[in-house]
Amino acid sequence: MPQKLKVGLIGAGGIMRAAHLNPGWLAVPDCELVAVCDNNREAAAKMAEDFKIPNIFADHRELLKIEEIDVVDIATPNVFHAPITIEALRAGKHVLCEKPLSTTTASIRAIEEAAAAAGRLVMTGQNQRYTPSAVAIKNFLHERDLGHVYHSRIHAVRRNLMPSSPSMIDSALSGGGPCMDIGVHALDLGLWLMNFPRPVRVTGRLMVNFARDHDLPGGWGEWDRERVTTEDFVSAFIHFESGATMVLEACWLQHQQESQDFSARLFGRKGSVEWPGGEYASAVNRVLVDSRIVPATGLQKPHTEEILAFVAAIREGRPSPVPPDESRRVIEILEAVYESDRLNREVKLPLATAEEADETPGIRAGSP
Ligand SMILES: NC(=O)c1ccc[n+]([C@@H]2O[C@H](COP(=O)([O-])OP(=O)(O)OC[C@H]3O[C@@H](n4cnc5c(N)ncnc54)[C@H](O)[C@@H]3O)[C@@H](O)[C@H]2O)c1
Repeated sequence: MPQKLKVGLIGAGGIMRAAHLNPGWLAVPDCELVAVCDNNREAAAKMAEDFKIPNIFADHRELLKIEEIDVVDIATPNVFHAPITIEALRAGKHVLCEKPLSTTTASIRAIEEAAAAAGRLVMTGQNQRYTPSAVAIKNFLHERDLGHVYHSRIHAVRRNLMPSSPSMIDSALSGGGPCMDIGVHALDLGLWLMNFPRPVRVTGRLMVNFARDHDLPGGWGEWDRERVTTEDFVSAFIHFESGATMVLEACWLQHQQESQDFSARLFGRKGSVEWPGGEYASAVNRVLVDSRIVPATGLQKPHTEEILAFVAAIREGRPSPVPPDESRRVIEILEAVYESDRLNREVKLPLATAEEADETPGIRAGSP
């Protein structure tokens, strides 16, 4: 590993600028931004100008030809994550990819195989794991046993924070709505805190309640209602091998007073914890015990911590901090939610392939 880490950026859009370069990569010692690619060449050129990046591309394959690049950071629309990640691995690069790593388990398996063949690391950008509350709760759970966690409640629900970008609301680009956009954050967090139990059965229901025809005002501005082909609400019930259950809710739009509720609550026989508030509840000798887990201090912004963790893993030859197999467990559940809605019944995991089920996959458009 050369002293200086050379980085290529793919997808010069909102999150790359707002988080991966704020300060993100700029906070990594001995790191050099070598190239930026966006299929909108003007966006790449603007980012190159603002961050003094010498090479500009409109095709990621050209960027991947630069031999000296050690790492690529991908923040394109979701459906391009897997193909670009696999090509980057084959070109010998380590890959940091925004969430969701991909929208199907099959494509994540292909990423895992490509990473193993190339001997390179892949990390999914699950930045919520690097928030001060999540870090503190994970550390707390290393020391405190909740007993058998029999249930969990995962929320990623917003009042009127509907994305306006076509890359989010057009399922051909996003692979799904709030499930893939924000559900993936809260579900990853919950499963990570639970050490990734094995899901066995899933019932899911997708809806479009507001996004196409309601006059709920968008907190982030207007969106093209004609273009919405994803769900705007999802609820799901998940069974794990251990006998535990989980309730998942994710939405972009609904009547609620809070602007957003991103949370995970784990209920164990010995105690419960809640993210992000850090509530811990238990009982000892018939006395109720309540406490609050104090958020970790001294951390940089979550995306910056995420990038620093990835770079440390590369430099020190350690495993990926958010490896693809963990993302596969998250997507396995979300994929099953869509499949359950499509079939209008509970589905078993692992999912039957289309041939096994003798059914062709439907479009993830959300049920009316
Ligand atoms: N972790 C987070 O907090 C967070 C927040 C927002 C978005 N995201 C994720 O980041 C990704 C990008 O989201 P965004 O909000 O920045 O979107 P965006 O639309 O602002 O930016 C995406 C950029 O990718 C470019 N692009 C599209 N196809 C490309 C291709 N094949 N090759 C190169 N460039 C291509 C677009 O021109 C655009 O500039 C999504 O996967 C999204 O889920 C993560």
